[in-house]
Amino acid sequence: MAKQTYILTIDEGTTSTRALILDHQGKIVASAQQEFTQIFPKPGWVEHDPLEIWHAVQATIAKTFTTSNIAPSMIAGIGITNQRETTVIWDKHTGLPIYNAVVWQSRQSNPVATKLTQAGYQQLIHEKTGLTIDPYFSGTKVRWILDQVPGAQKRAEKGELLFGTIDTWLTWQLTGGAVHITDYTNASRTMLFNIHKLTWDQDILNILHIPQAMLPDVTGNSEIYGHTKAYQFFGSEVPIASLVGDQQAALFGQLALKPGMVKNTYGTGAFLVMNTGTQAKLSRHNLLTTIAYGLDGQVYYALEGSIFVAGSAIQWLRDSLKMITSAQETQALAEAPATNPHLYMVPAFTGLGAPYWDADARGSIFGITRQTSRADLARATLQALAFQTRDVLAVMQADTGIAIPELKVDGGAARNDYLMQFQADILNIPLQRAHILETTSLGAAYLAGLAVGFWGDIAELQTMATAGQRFTPTMPAAEKEQRYSGWQSAVAATQKFKP
Ligand code: G3P
Repeated sequence: MAKQTYILTIDEGTTSTRALILDHQGKIVASAQQEFTQIFPKPGWVEHDPLEIWHAVQATIAKTFTTSNIAPSMIAGIGITNQRETTVIWDKHTGLPIYNAVVWQSRQSNPVATKLTQAGYQQLIHEKTGLTIDPYFSGTKVRWILDQVPGAQKRAEKGELLFGTIDTWLTWQLTGGAVHITDYTNASRTMLFNIHKLTWDQDILNILHIPQAMLPDVTGNSEIYGHTKAYQFFGSEVPIASLVGDQQAALFGQLALKPGMVKNTYGTGAFLVMNTGTQAKLSRHNLLTTIAYGLDGQVYYALEGSIFVAGSAIQWLRDSLKMITSAQETQALAEAPATNPHLYMVPAFTGLGAPYWDADARGSIFGITRQTSRADLARATLQALAFQTRDVLAVMQADTGIAIPELKVDGGAARNDYLMQFQADILNIPLQRAHILETTSLGAAYLAGLAVGFWGDIAELQTMATAGQRFTPTMPAAEKEQRYSGWQSAVAATQKFKP
């Protein structure tokens, strides 16, 4: 049998799925990526086809093997990281989903969330789950699907249906239906999980009438959960050794493992996560308390500010407005002399996340003049990512009393030097860009590698880390404050506008 010298990661994101093979030095030796269909049935709704996701995952894994000549039997362990909260319910016997996956960004379960708020459950839910009531989280989506599909509630009660986030769905597929699990990080985003007791919360399940029988078992982030079935994994039975939500995976991939360390990942959305160590700190400023990872029997917590729209605003410029043909073009456009430097774009396409939590807000553009150009709009879009990050970082500092000395950054848009410099300027702190921007996959690989003994301990992981470029603030103080206050007025006006 060939030597098992690699770790394989599956990073199943919101718009595309990626497979990566890493060697013992943490170097990426093969990778493949495939986009899949975004289904928009109504304004503010976003869905995926779970079977299309599974097929895309298989196709990308196959491609990493064929392009690298690495055999599946050479994989020591698999790490799975995923878009969190996105909800799938399927029939345990046929394996067929009863409805599309309802995506984290989707607002269709807003009526469920509103009912919970009106019934006065905010405090109970916040204390138990660390979350705020919002259609973002899986619990409201499960309720919505069970209401939407005739007979689903009864079938769920009889134990015929299974619920899972994407990590659960993929593990169930890879193991041929043998393993129905999720991990602490994904469970902590369902609004059904008690993050202190580390169990599904019966009170919340009762409030939402969600049958316990459909819920997966919850595990730590770095252990062997089961093996792939040979017929599902190109003839090999390989240990699945890590499941972890993508934002927590990025925190781990950045090795931001000390309390107070913060990272921001610019993906479809942008997510700032601060490690708070073994303490679950409840926010007073609308941040989420969430599980960062569970390792060697110990659970670590984090504070998170979730920004719903980041890279997807750039995608909108590309795919809907056809203003650019690739995301990279925004850098040159943003660096062009501004004809309208006071243009503000608030990309609240699916409401506003932290710290506003306004599910009904919709996007807006302010300050358009006859001179406003394509370049101005591209620049305003990139700047919106940076302003939203400042909104969150400010409340993170207020919540913890910690003056955050630097921000670690990764994800696709962190490649954009204009955005990184503007971000450092607006925050007035240095930005440390990761050397490998696939930090999410790296984190899942680290956790899987630790579980199978591919890497010995965190100290060994630290010897492999190399820092990327650093960006330090240069913008005059008066200018950055003027720009930020323009952004704050734009957000306030956006929230007032309810069509
Ligand atoms: O909470 C949603 C998040 O996990 C999605 O991440 O990378 O697809 O924007 P991403």
